[in-house]
Amino acid sequence: MSETEISQDPKRIAVIPGDGIGVEVTREAVKVLRAATPEKLQFTEFDWGADRYLRDGTSLPAGAVEMFHRDFDAILFGAVGDPRVPSNQHAADILLGLRAKLDLYVNLRPVELLDDALTPLRNRATKDVHFTVVRENTEGLYVGAGGHFQRGTPHEVAIQEDVNTRRGVERIIRYAFEFARSRHLRRVCMSDKSNALTFGHELWLRVFKELKSEYADVESRHLYVDALAMELVRDPTQFDVIVTCNLFGDILSDLGSQLAGGLGLAPSGNIHPGRVSLFEPVHGSAPNIAGKNIANPAGSVLSSALMLDHLGMPATANLLRDAVSASIREKQTTQDIGGNLGTREAGDWLAEFVATRA
Ligand code: NAD
Ligand code: IPM
Ligand code: MN
Repeated sequence: MSETEISQDPKRIAVIPGDGIGVEVTREAVKVLRAATPEKLQFTEFDWGADRYLRDGTSLPAGAVEMFHRDFDAILFGAVGDPRVPSNQHAADILLGLRAKLDLYVNLRPVELLDDALTPLRNRATKDVHFTVVRENTEGLYVGAGGHFQRGTPHEVAIQEDVNTRRGVERIIRYAFEFARSRHLRRVCMSDKSNALTFGHELWLRVFKELKSEYADVESRHLYVDALAMELVRDPTQFDVIVTCNLFGDILSDLGSQLAGGLGLAPSGNIHPGRVSLFEPVHGSAPNIAGKNIANPAGSVLSSALMLDHLGMPATANLLRDAVSASIREKQTTQDIGGNLGTREAGDWLAEFVATRA
């Protein structure tokens, strides 16, 4: 594969497979990346996840953040979550910890229908379902501010604070406008719940109104999140870029994934432009199918394509996307999207596809 944009040094990729199907799909994504870019990527694997946490208490080790800044260009992540850790503590430390501490303020979650047959919407085709959720990724209800009072008693109080900063809201809305502009996308929709959340989301609405005048070339629209959820199902053709807060972005991206064939295909990038960033499928560790060789590795492969975009290797990124599209066309996929291959066999097919074209 000829990449005019790439420097000679191999890019240094940290691989964190995590738990459950995170391990299975990441193995396949690395296989496909190796086949597509021999010698251009260098992988270092980390065993962080539930097993390690249960063994020695390690979740996100001290010094990890400095190490990523110093020694790595990107992180390829699987998923975290394990029924043996009901508190989800290790997952919060590792995944939410990395998003916050690396200041990965953009969670980019493209929704693109790759084959007409994959959408559950009646009379919709590939051209109708193609938008990107730009999820704020460092603030909101995810900051872990709050506490309990009289926990476990009938008088229990639980408080979870929703933190919205002027800087945080402004930078993500600005990113969404810039993203639209740079890709010649026409429309940005900002979604909040400012009619009920009259402090935090009033800030979102006010900042959005201020910024939209700077981006007069982009059509801007505001929808309350309940209305947006409904419109996404009724008529997804209305949307190019949707920008929203952390929690709403989480929910809308799972909804979006289903419009385009399900969680097995959905990719994401946790990004700080210009810095080491983390790429992972939208799905979780799926304990219900873990260890059965049935998880779809395509979400992880498409996340790897987002990683290659971030690393300045767009031709290889598109090769990975072509491979996934071809696998769907030729029904060489896992069962969740209509094929009959296992996880490993689907990964082999994709690796073979890219190897013959690299
Ligand atoms: P999930 O995404 O793991 O699974 C939801 C459903 O989708 C399940 O039925 C699962 O079998 C299916 N599914 C998911 N990925 C698939 C794939 N690649 N191929 C085929 N089917 C797939 O969500 P959940 O069940 O709510 O959560 C399970 C665990 O994962 C929890 O501990 C949760 O906290 C964690 N989680 C982690 C992440 C992450 O690490 N980024 C994301 C979501 C959930
Ligand atoms: C996601 C996941 C995480 C989130 C969980 C595991 C904390 O659902 O990446 O979408 O809510 O951000
Ligand atoms: Mn989620």
